[in-house]
Amino acid sequence: MTIGKGVLVIGASGQIGTELVMALRQQHGTANVVACDIKTASDEVKASGPFELLDILDKDRLYALVKQYEVSEIYLLAALLSATAEQKVMPAWKLNMDGLFNVLELAREGHIAKVYWPSSIAIFGPTTPKVHTPQRTIAEPTTVYGISKLTGERWCEYYFNRYGVDVRSLRYPGLIGYKSAPGGGTTDYAVDIFHKAAAGEPFTCFLNADTRLPMMYMPDAIAATLGIMNAEAANVKVRSSYNIAALDFTPAELAGRIRENMPDFRIDYAPDHRQAIADSWPGSIDDSVARKDWGWKNRYDLKAMTRDMLVNLAPESIR
Ligand code: NAD
Ligand code: SER
Repeated sequence: MTIGKGVLVIGASGQIGTELVMALRQQHGTANVVACDIKTASDEVKASGPFELLDILDKDRLYALVKQYEVSEIYLLAALLSATAEQKVMPAWKLNMDGLFNVLELAREGHIAKVYWPSSIAIFGPTTPKVHTPQRTIAEPTTVYGISKLTGERWCEYYFNRYGVDVRSLRYPGLIGYKSAPGGGTTDYAVDIFHKAAAGEPFTCFLNADTRLPMMYMPDAIAATLGIMNAEAANVKVRSSYNIAALDFTPAELAGRIRENMPDFRIDYAPDHRQAIADSWPGSIDDSVARKDWGWKNRYDLKAMTRDMLVNLAPESIR
């Protein structure tokens, strides 16, 4: 069977997809990277290459697009994230699991050559060691999102071991970027805070001041994604999902960094249902296995990330 050089990004209109599509178009050529979603994409994504409406649960349409665009790689980003999934338990389970099966099955049947599917720090739970959480450790998630991601990891490894499917995965921490809005996660406060600061408004945080979580600036997350997908197959030794890390901070520490650039910025705290989710997750991640296996390295620390966010969102307001 011939497989072309097309790349399909499913969930392309979300926080990661909006930026990943543009990076993939630079690498593979604009016409070869097809952005797909159930909702329309950003103007930049639509203007720069093909966009198709696709519900990942529609396996026939997925297959038709794979054939139409001679697709060889799929990046499957469509999912319900942690906070939304707690409100929509069964739809979240269905989307997060059946979407993955639809793509893994296409690979097993030989229609595509490579799959990228993101996991999350949410696979860990309250019994996991919280500090520098290792690659392999106790993973007893207490959210439907975490359970779906942990289950997905086991299936990815199974399809690799049993059928030789070249599937690669990263456990993203909370992702922070200025180009697109986050979509229903527990780490979203760390994006929202910048928009309030940029607007000159105070921010009410839905997590406690001292809630430490692992985070990453979007350019590092995109680099990690391209890094693992471009790595030699032999160097990708973990076929469930890799820990990757860059930053960890509390809301109070992030607010402090923002104040270094905007001294008048104010924050207060009103923890809601998302506090329990955050409390069940690690505070920091050990990513030494990814660093050793395929050379993962982050570029942005907290100070550099904060500055870059504010330079892009409110250049005239920072000192
Ligand atoms: P997002 O919610 O911003 O985007 C998801 C996209 O999927 C949306 O554009 C949505 O319209 C689309 N979608 C939903 N249902 C669909 C369907 N049935 N068919 C096709 N598209 C559908 O999410 P994101 O932050 O971009 O996350 C992408 C992936 O990365 C997810 O798997 C998520 O679990 C994972 N992840 C994200 C983070 C983070 O901090 N953003 C952290 C860890 C893991
Ligand atoms: N950032 C994501 C969330 O909060 C973690 O996967 O849901």
